[in-house]
Amino acid sequence: MKKIAVIGLGYVGLPLAVEFGKKQQVVGFDINQARVSELLTGVDSTLEVTPEELKEASFLKFSSAIEDINDCNIYIVTVPTPIDESNAPDLTPLRKASAMLAAVIKPNDVVIYESTVYPGATEEVCIPIIEKASGLKFNVDFFAGYSPERINPGDKVNTLTKIKKITSGSTPGIAKFVDDLYGSIITAGTHSASSIKVAEAAKVIENTQRDLNIAIINEFAKIFNILQIDTQEVLDAAGTKWNFLPFKPGLVGGHCISVDPYYLTHKAKEVGYQPEVILAGRRINDGMGQYTATQLVKAVSKQKIHVDEAKVLVLGFTFKGDCPDVRNTKIVDMVKELKSFNMHVGVYDQWASSEEVKHEYGIELISELKEGYYDAIVLAVDHSDYKNWGEEKIRSLGKEKHVLYDVKHVLKISESDIRL
Ligand SMILES: NC(=O)c1ccc[n+]([C@@H]2O[C@H](COP(=O)([O-])OP(=O)(O)OC[C@H]3O[C@@H](n4cnc5c(N)ncnc54)[C@H](O)[C@@H]3O)[C@@H](O)[C@H]2O)c1
Repeated sequence: MKKIAVIGLGYVGLPLAVEFGKKQQVVGFDINQARVSELLTGVDSTLEVTPEELKEASFLKFSSAIEDINDCNIYIVTVPTPIDESNAPDLTPLRKASAMLAAVIKPNDVVIYESTVYPGATEEVCIPIIEKASGLKFNVDFFAGYSPERINPGDKVNTLTKIKKITSGSTPGIAKFVDDLYGSIITAGTHSASSIKVAEAAKVIENTQRDLNIAIINEFAKIFNILQIDTQEVLDAAGTKWNFLPFKPGLVGGHCISVDPYYLTHKAKEVGYQPEVILAGRRINDGMGQYTATQLVKAVSKQKIHVDEAKVLVLGFTFKGDCPDVRNTKIVDMVKELKSFNMHVGVYDQWASSEEVKHEYGIELISELKEGYYDAIVLAVDHSDYKNWGEEKIRSLGKEKHVLYDVKHVLKISESDIRL
């Protein structure tokens, strides 16, 4: 019987390890001992897996000791693929995981990568590391697959098994093996791509397309704000046409949509093609944090509220609603810009870990909200709680004269003073 090791137990790796762990022996491996410890106590701080689901995965063991994956035969790599300060792919976690696997891989083992990369990364970067350090020959002694993850953290409807999964393998036989493996857990079915590169490219364009779709809506919003037309009303009207795509303006953060396009543009440049549209979209989306701050400052000053030392409450800090993930949140850009106007900014987010926010961004989250205290309130993230609070509760936090800015179009148009 084949034994699986899932390498990296984050948003992607844990749900995968749990699904396989309901059916067969799996070792969930992570270099972060604190993460393994919390999982051993039955807690998942990413909130992707409930304690009950963890219990259901009765064949799943957790470990951060490499000896515990020695007897595995299938290694599924789900480590992060971030970008560096110059927006270039940082493949360090993938390289490190591959080097570690070189020490445990045995003849006939299969390594499957799930991390989002540019086309070619698996075979050009990862496999050579394993080959060199293990002395085993690729496609003779060991094999590879690539199966990108498409989960949407925080989404309790479109979960891992309900999303069709792209699979691929380094030989036709391995492609079939990888496809059957995922077919055993994915109820929505699989799509076997013709090569690893095709599967890598498919994932990266899914997210790039989404990024660009949001970028054009953000550009529309900027134009309509000058024209004093409500963007949502325009979108509602245009959306009555069958082929108008239903995207909304917003802050594009996180470690997928705002990162993956740079993987594709990096590869494009490497092979001599200068991407234009993709990078234009990135520039627009990357500038939206600052833009929203400027929009608020203008609205505050129009209301004759002193911008200097105005008290601003920012509701929400995570990169998306109902999710504790604060990686690459663009709200930090908004907060910085507001502070540059000498405004006093309080950020409240009951979903985010205050330790992580302090550590990563140097921002101390506020834990209590004061009634009648704020000159401006920014509804920055569409957490369900804020939707439930509604206009009345949110406005009760503001002074008699205040500005309510609905960045995420959570409220009705008449309920906020401005929106993106
Ligand atoms: N989160 C998403 O929504 C999502 C969706 C689809 C695809 N992806 C892609 O999946 C990959 C993983 O993303 P994530 O959100 O799960 O990341 P994550 O940061 O939540 O989890 C990654 C885990 O890998 C561990 N890790 C890092 N290096 C390791 C190593 N060498 N050995 C073992 N463990 C290691 C980390 O400690 C961490 O727990 C990325 O490429 C990402 O782009 C993410």
